[in-house]
Order: sequence, then structure tokens, then C-alpha cells
Amino acid sequence: MIDLAQLQDQIKSKLSGIENQSELENTKSFFLGKKGLITLAFKGLGTLDPSIRKEQASKLNVIKSQLIDKLNMLQQEIASKEINKNLNTEKLDITLPAKKIIKGKIHPVSQVIDELTSIFSEIGFSVAEGPDIENEYNNFTALNTPEHHPARDMHDTFYLDKDKKTLLRTHTSPVQIRTMLKQKPPIKIIVPGRTYRCDSDMTHTPMFHQLEGLYLDKNINMGDLKGCLEYFLKRFFENDKLKMRLRPSHFPFTEPSAEVDISYKIDNNKIIVGEGDRWLEVLGCGMVHPNVLKNVKIDSNKFQGYAFGVGIDRLAMLKYGITDLRSFFEGDVRWIDHYGFDSNDVPTNYRGLSK
Ligand code: DAH
Repeated sequence: MIDLAQLQDQIKSKLSGIENQSELENTKSFFLGKKGLITLAFKGLGTLDPSIRKEQASKLNVIKSQLIDKLNMLQQEIASKEINKNLNTEKLDITLPAKKIIKGKIHPVSQVIDELTSIFSEIGFSVAEGPDIENEYNNFTALNTPEHHPARDMHDTFYLDKDKKTLLRTHTSPVQIRTMLKQKPPIKIIVPGRTYRCDSDMTHTPMFHQLEGLYLDKNINMGDLKGCLEYFLKRFFENDKLKMRLRPSHFPFTEPSAEVDISYKIDNNKIIVGEGDRWLEVLGCGMVHPNVLKNVKIDSNKFQGYAFGVGIDRLAMLKYGITDLRSFFEGDVRWIDHYGFDSNDVPTNYRGLSK
């Protein structure tokens, strides 16, 4: 029979020497493991005389539960000692200066596209898209610009094959065709996107951006077109006094066609849009030509529409005082740092577009 007083002495001396987690585990298995002293003592109870077995068992139970309590307490002490040790060694000095963070900027073209989307969404336009690689039919023929039409030469087209069947779209107008083939009127879309022409100087780059507009419905007229453009230009240049005029022009896909000028003045070598008595051409527009509607199988006696096309990069240059278009696409970080926008300044109608 195990001597309980001796067992308790052993427990006492083992517990007093515990310093860390692994010593704790060792002690635990020394007494309570499969071959631990207490486990074996319980096993030995069966050999005892029944007259003393019960008493011995209950004493063993008390010793066992006291040992478990003490081990749990020690476990907590060791854990909190570990935490304190870590807190003392791992110091964080929050007064140190932050690391320099290089923040990206939003390109003026992206910013202006967001502004335009916001302005036009307010009056019911949704955004449509089409591919940069287009076929000759959508880019020209369907838009009432047949082969040998002089307007084709004016576009300095990048053709992608010998037969001149595939090309880089020269304007966003082919998306009018794609949309009208897919959707039934009423159609009210804007199309921001990349366009390509073989041209390069201060105000031209081989790749540039346009925004197309198309509104097709019953009883649409030039008055609706003028109202829409006036709203757009005043909102975009954030100037309610901006003056605008329509000048007769020609585009194969509209009849009648017009170009739109806005007022400006030069002050201290800077261009101020919306004021003064000079005129600056900003966009082309007109009523969708009946031949274009015929090409997409829409009855021009039932539906009429207006369309317009505007250069996005040019709008950005005018609004944000950027003089050389080529700088837009050079990828110079100093340039984007100066002319770019903070990614948190998302243009909205209610908070303001550029402020
Ligand atoms: N696609 C024309 C261009 O690139 C711009 C244009 C003019 C678009 C009149 C239109 C429009 O939708 O009605 O020069």
C-alpha cells in the first residue's frame, strides 16, 4: 500500500521546483500519467482489504484533486509570466516618424471620365462599351460613310489587315451601331473609350479618348440636344454662366449636324473657359441620320435621336490647364504627381466634381 504522507511530500517537493511549461507537463505525467504514482495507487486499491480500501480511496481522491488544482494555478502563473516577459522585451515606440508612403494618383483622363459619367448619369444616361479593334463596317459603312467617302481619308485610320476590313476604331461612334443592333429604343447611352488615329503633335496623339452620346426615342429634336449639351458643359466646367453656340457643320452620320463652341478668354496667359467673347470648338453633334437607323433596322418614322462626340483629353486639358497632350501618355511620375487626383476625391454630383 502506498504511503500517503510520503506521496504528499513528493508532490510538495516536485511542485516547488516547477519553473516552466515543460517542467509542469513532466510533473503532471509523473503523478497522473498512465504510469504515474497516483494512477498506480488507484490501480493498487483492488488488492487492499475492503475494510481500509474505501478510506484509502477517498484520501487518494482528495490528494488527486488538490494536485490538479495546484497544477492549474501554476499553469496560469507560468502563462502570465511569459506574457510579461514578452511585453518587457518587445517595445514599440509610437513616437517614431511613419515610413514614407508613396501614394498613387488618379490620371486626369480617368478623373474626367468619372466626372462625365457622374454628370450624364444624373439625366438618365447609362454607360455602354465596345472593342478597340473594330470592323470597317461598324466604324464607317454603317455610319453612312461608304467607301471612297472623303470623311474616311480624314480619319488617318490604322488598318490591321491588307483588305482594310479590320482597324483600330477611329471614333467611339461604332458603339452607336453595336448598341442599336442589340437594344430596342429608347436608348440613352454614353460611351467613353479609347480611339486611334495616325497623328501626333501638341494636341494630337495616336491614341486618345472620346465620349460618344446617343439618345434615341420618339419625338426627340435639336432642342433636346441643345438642352442636354448646355447642361453637360455648364456642369463639367462648373460655371453656370458658360455661353455655348451651335454652328452648322457636316458629319456623315447626322443630319442636320453641328459643331459646338464655348466661350473663353485669355487672362495672364491662362485660358479661362466660360467667360469672355472668344469661341472654342469642343464637340460635334447632330440628329441621327435616317440611313444610320435604316442600317440597324430601326424605323426612322417612329424614332428619332441625337448623337454627339467629344474629345475627353481635350476637355481635361481645358479644365485642368494642361498644355501638351503628349504628356498625358508619357508615364512620368512627376507629371502624374502634379496633375493627378487623390484616389479619395471621387467625383459625385452631390459633393462636387473636382473640389
Ligand atoms: N465621331 C466624330 C469624330 O470623331 C464625332 C461626332 C460628331 C460624333 C457628331 C457624333 C456626332 O456622334 O453626332 O469626329
